[in-house]
Formats: sequence, C-alpha cells, structure tokens
Amino acid sequence: MLLFREKIPTGWLPKILADLPAALVDHAHLERKAATTALNLEKYRDLYARVAELNAIAIEELQHFQLVLGHLGRRGIPFGQPYPSPWISGLMKSVRQGQRHQVIDHLICCSLIEGRSCEKFQILARELGGIDSELAALYGGLVESEGNHYATYILMARAIDDGETDSRLDYYLNLEAQLIRQPNPLPMLH
Ligand SMILES: [Fe+2]
Ligand SMILES: [Fe+2]
Repeated sequence: MLLFREKIPTGWLPKILADLPAALVDHAHLERKAATTALNLEKYRDLYARVAELNAIAIEELQHFQLVLGHLGRRGIPFGQPYPSPWISGLMKSVRQGQRHQVIDHLICCSLIEGRSCEKFQILARELGGIDSELAALYGGLVESEGNHYATYILMARAIDDGETDSRLDYYLNLEAQLIRQPNPLPMLH
C-alpha cells in the first residue's frame, strides 16, 4: 500500500531505542501537530465539503496525543520542547502557492507524513516487543489509524484532481527519498 521509494535509514531505530523518553515527547508533539494540521486543511475551498471528516481526523489525533501524554505521565517523563523536523519542513517547503496547487501539495505532504508514521509505528511495535511491551502495544494500536489517514489524505487529493495528484506525488516521492537520507542525530520519529 505504501509507495515510498527509499527505505528508512538503518540508523533510525537504534537512535530511537537509545532515548525512548525523548522519542515519546517527540511523538506527543507529532500527534499534536497532526491534530492542528487536520484543522488547518479546513481553510481550503476544495475541502469545505470534507470538514466533518477532517474534524474526525483531528479528534482522533488529539486522542493519540492524550494517549502519548498518558504514557509520559505514568513514566514520569515531563512534556517538553518540540524539535523542528528537517524532513517535515523539507516536504512543506515545496508546497506551491495558489488554492488548487496548494491544497493538493499540502494533502500529499500530510499523506506522506502519515504514511511514514504508519511504517515507523509498525517497526516500533515489532522491535519494542521484547523490550517494552507497553510501548509496543501503544505503537501497534496506532498503526491502522495512521494508515487510514495516509489513504484518506491521498484520496482527498485525488478527488480534487487525479492527474495533478499523480504528477505531484511523483515529485514528492523523489523529494522524500532525498530528505529521509539526510542524517538527523536527534531521537525524533521524523
Ligand atoms: Fe496519530
Ligand atoms: Fe494520523
């Protein structure tokens, strides 16, 4: 189902496992940003008819945020400062201006972020199995939801303009493959 053209770098998993508390704080911010992003998409004319679906995604992401905050609280890990993700900003920098172009690009970026989250949560669910069963269950429980968000955002873009979505998806998948190869030493999901 996922279209990515580059594998997740081998250094990503050990970096996360080496600092799970920091990765969990980053994950909390990722869910918070996913909730606000779903709401931000409602500003586009082409998505006015999808406002209820976008609200539903925002509510789900807010629930994910609360879930991660619960894990932080039980572990005594304070919620802290977010680190900017060069991978996410690298994708978002290529969003073109102009209603129609902008909404398609924005939806594709959101879709790729959700898709990589889905892929990485699957890896974490598997790899944390023997290390931290509670976190393995957390990640395993989020895989389906993020996969649905990935598909929903791509389908929303396709419903606006199928041909434009294909051509921009090709562009973004190449960009994403370059960006994910850039080293990032911080224990961040993206
Ligand atoms: Fe989420
Ligand atoms: Fe999501």
